[in-house]
Amino acid sequence: MKKSPLADAPGYIKHTRLIQWIAEVAALTEPDRVMWCDGSQEEADTLFAQMVATGSMKQLNPVKRPNSYLALSDPSDVARVEDRTYVCTTDPEDAGPNNNWEDPAKMKATLRGLFKGCMRGRAMYVIPFSMGPIGSPIAHIGIELSDSPYVVVNMRIMTRMGRAVIDQLGTDGEFVPCLHSVGHPLAAGEKDVKWPCNKTKYICHFPETREIWSFGSGYGGNALLGKKCFALRIASTMARDEGWLAEHMLILGVESPQGEKSYVAAAFPSACGKTNFAMLIPPQSLGGWKVTTVGDDIAWIKPGKDGRLYAINPESGFFGVAPGTSEKTNFNAMATLKENIIFTNVALTDDGDVWWEGMSKEPPAHLIDWQGKDWTPADGKAGRKAAHPNSRFTAPAAQCPSIDPDWENPAGVPISAFIFGGRRATTVPLVFEAFNWNYGVYMAATLGSETTAAATGAQGVVRRDPFAMLPFCGYHMGDYFNHWLKIGHQIEHTPRIFTVNWFRQDAAGNFMWPGFGENMRVLKWIVERCNGRADAKQTALGWVPRFEDLDWSGNDNVSKTGFEQLAAIDTAAWREELKLHAEWFDKLKSRMPQQLTLKRDLFELALADQRD
Ligand code: OXD
Ligand code: MN
Repeated sequence: MKKSPLADAPGYIKHTRLIQWIAEVAALTEPDRVMWCDGSQEEADTLFAQMVATGSMKQLNPVKRPNSYLALSDPSDVARVEDRTYVCTTDPEDAGPNNNWEDPAKMKATLRGLFKGCMRGRAMYVIPFSMGPIGSPIAHIGIELSDSPYVVVNMRIMTRMGRAVIDQLGTDGEFVPCLHSVGHPLAAGEKDVKWPCNKTKYICHFPETREIWSFGSGYGGNALLGKKCFALRIASTMARDEGWLAEHMLILGVESPQGEKSYVAAAFPSACGKTNFAMLIPPQSLGGWKVTTVGDDIAWIKPGKDGRLYAINPESGFFGVAPGTSEKTNFNAMATLKENIIFTNVALTDDGDVWWEGMSKEPPAHLIDWQGKDWTPADGKAGRKAAHPNSRFTAPAAQCPSIDPDWENPAGVPISAFIFGGRRATTVPLVFEAFNWNYGVYMAATLGSETTAAATGAQGVVRRDPFAMLPFCGYHMGDYFNHWLKIGHQIEHTPRIFTVNWFRQDAAGNFMWPGFGENMRVLKWIVERCNGRADAKQTALGWVPRFEDLDWSGNDNVSKTGFEQLAAIDTAAWREELKLHAEWFDKLKSRMPQQLTLKRDLFELALADQRD
């Protein structure tokens, strides 16, 4: 008789519901064996050795990049698949026009069909993980069942994973069940491929029962279920129900030369420089300002007893976009990447290290590209990329030189400001502050950005990406706006809200703002506004700094006229922009808060009064 899949369950698992669920999934998916992950180094070493042996990972040169590995994906499985991502609620209205919807029972039936026997020939890994420091009142637990060892080693970096989570769960603790399969069963004796996946993909969320089922993809955003699926789509619905916020935001600390510390949380759409901003190194000429990193992608924010909002980074690693990262653009990221890293879809150098576009000015004379093919600079000139534009590094946050001393504080860090930014060539000024919380919610609700390689589909098209949450909000966007308005009423000390745009271009198509470390000039103004010290002028949009309101010490990049162009409010362009806002709001009509549609009319009136 075949051994029960649970025969080797470790004695320390005492959670009956958890064991029952694992047994049900094993019966459905029919794995060869169940592997119970404890999160230890030995376990990770064994899995890496196994993946190297099967050719699904390559160990990098241990002298140049100790304990680091490279995985090359199937060319069809390189990004999040938004058109295959579903939110399944009883009432389709609850998922909203911002999500693909399917009836939960119908979707479960489809998924059961796909998951039936899908793990044959493979191990099923039980991955217990905590989003947030284990035991933090802001943290929550998930259990991912996956047939991908790549997922296990990535989850070990991205989350607190292993035995300690099971101990925290006890006999009846709450957890979010996260089921994942690459959807590529193996017949007896059949050889595995390097990157198993399936042409059919379903990334499904069931907010009412707080479950995730993901089929057919091994790519991070679709397969590391703690990240976008749990920490954003499911957690945003938990946050709505429980009065907190689960946001697509980096969190950073800013310390003045006098030692005054403030924290800000900032939302930018995918691949708009969140990791760079979170690890910013201020120009020395600003006289000793310091930036520290709490998180680079996701913030869970809960009200504290003192009437302020407190944020944690639910992750413990960075799943960052590699291209464009260099010692010049993000020194701290490059220092973080020295060892213990998993790279996905970057290029391999002849001496066993990695390279991607933008890492150095001159590319190496020869590389193996992300598809495993020979590559030379001539190929680059012909437009063939050595690294995929959405190639990634998975890196332990603790290795980041700028990591904040409080990044694992279970109580979180107090937030003084929210910053929202998109990639906009025109219209949106460098920075402005909303008049108050509700105006800020309006600006965030209408955030627009040009699309990037982080998701499949056309790139460079402006789409509305409210709060940078369009692909990640697990419920109706109109309800989400309402939730933000409500939080503003409930919190005594609401953070101030700012909009930034690092990407404004001149008529010739050149970026007008140098970005990177220079963003500190804007960040300093933001923090000083929060602390009641920086000046601004009132405009139709909000409070905008004049040239003299920013600290320009050591600046040789931006002239006064250049700044005035960057900060200008083009009233004609804004009138057009407001028309797009109206169209956008119309799409959410059934649940759109009136408060925001009224604000749109107020902006229109204010613009009519403003001279160019
Ligand atoms: C990410 C994304 O991977 O936003 O962080 O796509
Ligand atoms: Mn992201």
